[in-house]
Amino acid sequence: MKALVKQKAEPGLWLTEVPEPAVGAGDVLIKVLRTGICGTDLHIRSWDGWAQRSISAPLTLGHEFVGEVVETGRDVADITPGDLVSGEGHLVCGSCRNCLAGRRHLCRATVGLGVGRDGAFAEYVALPAANVWVHRHPVDLDIAAVFDPFGNAVHTALSFPLVGEDVLITGAGPIGIMAAAVARHAGARNVVITDVSEPRLELARKVGASLALNVAKTSIADGQRALGLREGFDIGLEMSGRPEALRDMIDNMTHGGKIAVLGLPAQEFAVDWSRIVTSMITIKGIYGREMFETWYAMSVLLEGGLDLSPVITGRYPYQDFDAAFDEAAGGRGGKVILDWTA
Ligand SMILES: NC(=O)c1ccc[n+]([C@@H]2O[C@H](COP(=O)([O-])OP(=O)(O)OC[C@H]3O[C@@H](n4cnc5c(N)ncnc54)[C@H](O)[C@@H]3O)[C@@H](O)[C@H]2O)c1
Ligand SMILES: [Zn+2]
Ligand SMILES: [Zn+2]
Repeated sequence: MKALVKQKAEPGLWLTEVPEPAVGAGDVLIKVLRTGICGTDLHIRSWDGWAQRSISAPLTLGHEFVGEVVETGRDVADITPGDLVSGEGHLVCGSCRNCLAGRRHLCRATVGLGVGRDGAFAEYVALPAANVWVHRHPVDLDIAAVFDPFGNAVHTALSFPLVGEDVLITGAGPIGIMAAAVARHAGARNVVITDVSEPRLELARKVGASLALNVAKTSIADGQRALGLREGFDIGLEMSGRPEALRDMIDNMTHGGKIAVLGLPAQEFAVDWSRIVTSMITIKGIYGREMFETWYAMSVLLEGGLDLSPVITGRYPYQDFDAAFDEAAGGRGGKVILDWTA
């Protein structure tokens, strides 16, 4: 089968023939229909420091996908050929304290699909049945392809109750934009989002942000004043990975405010701890998605009318992967989709 592979320990990707994956007794074989390109895939293509430390070639990339089940192992119940599915890309150990307690998103030995083992940028992918999410209701295929980052957005946005609250999101990348849509849909009063990219701020306006602020030109404090906020934001969702964004967020929170941090900074940095302490701010790190409570929330939010369509801004046949990766790396639009059926 065709697969998009990091063949050598150097920059680049190779579209090549690889063997079809083996299907174990507890596995599901999926014919891949569409995939989403993630920042992780861009790191692996460019072969930066993180990729060099984390990846061993050869490796098939990709963890954001939708596909159709074509075969199931003999121990698999409840999933049948023909089912439309996406996959939870965090494969957990099943035996650590958190796994045993059912808190699989807190597993201490998670292996990433398309990072620690061969992934979904291929004509077929095999996954343990416990990692497969069946779409039981009709869902747009492009949206189903990005359930993984949509799950990051939902996990972060629903970390703290936000009905009626004023929410600040730093970073209008694809995940920040999806989080803005979720916060709006879930009943926040104001949803303010920041970025330094005008086209991305424009996408955020399309999904219903109350205010999309270019922080290269205006400050978050100005945004607060424009909305008539007097005491600061109740909820913060950090989705840029940038030190200055988290610092600004902390400065603009209300006393007792709550911050969920998804953005992954490239290195450690300082923040104003005395402000965090004296304002009694809660800061919570977010990794991946809750298995499978976040997935349940994603499906029912879409059923309830959540519209993520503005987030998909690029579509390419898989053969044009280089152009698709270039567009995703450009950082101006939303999610870029590869079609594996073309
Ligand atoms: N914790 C997890 O499980 C997890 C999973 C996926 C992604 N991530 C991280 O979440 C973040 C969001 O992911 P994404 O795919 O949307 O990333 P992205 O890189 O596409 O988006 C980040 C955005 O932040 C903007 N930005 C830069 N400086 C800023 C500033 N000072 N203020 C506000 N915005 C600024 C950038 O212009 C960009 O649009 C990334 O840091 C990513 O690494 C974490
Ligand atoms: Zn991803
Ligand atoms: Zn575990």
